[in-house]
Amino acid sequence: MTNPILPTDFQPTPSSEPTTDKSTNVSNPPSIATDATSNAAIIAQMRTLIDALKTHNNAYYVLDNPILEDSEYDQLRLSLIELEEEYPDLVQSDSPINQVGDMPLSAFTQVTHDTPMLSLGNVFEYDDLRDFMRRVNDRLSVAQQSPEYEMELKLDGLAVSLKYEYGKFVQAVTRGDGQTGEDITQNAKTIRNLPLWLADAADIALLEVRGEVVMPKAGFERLNRLALENDDKVFANPRNAAAGSLRQLDPSIAASRPLAFYAYSVNQGLPETIETQSAALAWLGDIGFSVSAVRVIQNPREAQEYYESVIDKRAQLPFEIDGTVIKVNSLALQQQLSFLSREPRWATAYKFPAETVMTRLQAIDWQVGRTGQITPVGKLEPVKVGGVTVSNVTLHNFGEIQRLDVRAGDMVSVHRAGDVIPKVTRVWHGQRPADSVPVMLPSTCPVCDSPVVLPDDEALARCTGGLFCPAQQQEALIHFVSRRAMDIDGLGERWLIGFFNHGLVKTVADIYQLHNHQEELITLEKLGEKSVQNIISAIEASKQTTLARFIYALGIRGVGETTAQNLAQQFGDLDTLMSASIEKLLLTPDVGAITAELVYKFFRAPHNIEVITALREAGVHWDKVEQKVSTGQPLDGQTWVITGALHSMARDEAKAKLQALGAKVSGSISAKTTALLAGEKAGSKMAKAEKLGVKVVGEEEFLALVGEE
Ligand code: IVH
Repeated sequence: MTNPILPTDFQPTPSSEPTTDKSTNVSNPPSIATDATSNAAIIAQMRTLIDALKTHNNAYYVLDNPILEDSEYDQLRLSLIELEEEYPDLVQSDSPINQVGDMPLSAFTQVTHDTPMLSLGNVFEYDDLRDFMRRVNDRLSVAQQSPEYEMELKLDGLAVSLKYEYGKFVQAVTRGDGQTGEDITQNAKTIRNLPLWLADAADIALLEVRGEVVMPKAGFERLNRLALENDDKVFANPRNAAAGSLRQLDPSIAASRPLAFYAYSVNQGLPETIETQSAALAWLGDIGFSVSAVRVIQNPREAQEYYESVIDKRAQLPFEIDGTVIKVNSLALQQQLSFLSREPRWATAYKFPAETVMTRLQAIDWQVGRTGQITPVGKLEPVKVGGVTVSNVTLHNFGEIQRLDVRAGDMVSVHRAGDVIPKVTRVWHGQRPADSVPVMLPSTCPVCDSPVVLPDDEALARCTGGLFCPAQQQEALIHFVSRRAMDIDGLGERWLIGFFNHGLVKTVADIYQLHNHQEELITLEKLGEKSVQNIISAIEASKQTTLARFIYALGIRGVGETTAQNLAQQFGDLDTLMSASIEKLLLTPDVGAITAELVYKFFRAPHNIEVITALREAGVHWDKVEQKVSTGQPLDGQTWVITGALHSMARDEAKAKLQALGAKVSGSISAKTTALLAGEKAGSKMAKAEKLGVKVVGEEEFLALVGEE
């Protein structure tokens, strides 16, 4: 069985595939003849059910790709239980029902390992990997130089040793301290892909297989979701969940946990004909174990290639890994190289950069955004996380600080995975310095000293300084020149802030006076004449704009691009908009009470009127807006919202197409919305549309509608 989610060289070797009757249609459980007369017929029915359950278990727990609804799975299980209860003498030794039947234990027995369970050294960088391979060479004779290596995934779970006597599973022991572990045989029996009987190892007196017990990501999420619903303990990560599950004294609890076992070595009983680690893993796969992706490599460059290919595929794997493992492939050379203290000299882990690390939060600064929002920013003792050095982390808002109960001076865990922005995930309260003090929301703006307010209905504190506040002035300037606003692309942010700091530009209107200060630009900013010319002509070109862009560029709180377009459509010209009453503003699609009030107030602030007048006097202008009165267009009077990612075109394009057909396009869903155009990964808007009963249109339907199909 292959898993479509996994890349081809990452297909785990399935162990629980049905050994007979592969054509069993598991979604159509066979009906059970209650009047079955011969034992052979009963056994045949049991086998069919067992095989179907194993196929499902493998798909669900190992491949993370269920092929049955849970309810149907339960039906199959129930049929088998009933049959086994009726015919206890005929119960098959590998029945999955047996795997959950043991009594709770009072404590785990300690077991000493036949040979110690070693751990692995670590490398994190290519150079260290090369050093490791060099050290191996140093211990080998001339003839043995540059041996072949084998690489595997480093599964993030728990090491376990399994023993089989003449093919029969007899014992599972955790790694423990490496010398002695705990006997978890009963719990291990409940692991769906752990073979209880190895037909192909029936002639091996003692086979010891070592490997990792993991909880697949999907199962982990399901388990935590259930725990949340039931107010139970939520696990921090799949490894903890796997460990917690294996240490359950009651095997029926362990049985309910989605665990999987991946073999990575044979410690005793390997057939003598097998001479390499890669062959040992292939053999383990053949006799019924799941094993992870393996590659044989010859040199550091190939090792690096494998490592990087694993990083690329990491997110798609059904279980967590924390790196790769590189092992000398020849088992004889492994023996020869032996180990030092507790680590083999013939293997090391080539690990991924840590994604969660601890560091000290040195201070909490407050930053002021364009519309005055005051956000706390954590200043960290710089630390490498997810492969990059992080020294700042957003703490979002004051509520988040309270939720985390974090103070300057605290040790914190910082998490950064992939390209996601770093986040404080935990505060180590036990390590809090004695002299630390709770964080207070500043009562005045750290930049302009105006009072700070925390409106009841908002999580964000705000500076009340408005455009008096230099921080807000700066942000307003950056927004004004941005691509979707006035689009002055020749005027980069760095220069703009430079002009601001030299007092050459205070308000957005001053940008249009810069041509009067060309000498200062050259002397103060050390700009070449050519650069100044470019800036001045970019500014000049931006004077010809649209009313919608102009409204958006003003940076009125609550007025994003779509609302600006709707306002331009609704009012047709700036003066009508500026003098509109709240009631009139409310008639605009997408404009609710809060935005209407913000717009109304904006146009009544003398400072704003002054700036707008200066901009118009400087020559900023736009063509008359063609207001779309009912034109009999197909989508006349309709309001659409777009969400998610579209395949066939950019969202802007989809928006233009809808508008061309007479629809208004809004940024948020309300009961007045006609339809939601939903692309891939549609999130909260989709949920809201469903709640409000707003029609949801998929991309294909939309393409048909706009005649693109
Ligand atoms: S080999 C002597 N192979 O990593 C060799 N270990 O940090 C010892 N692990 O305790 C183990 N995936 O729990 C090996 N493919 C793999 C592994 C692996 C995960 C774990 C194992 C071990 C730990 C050492």
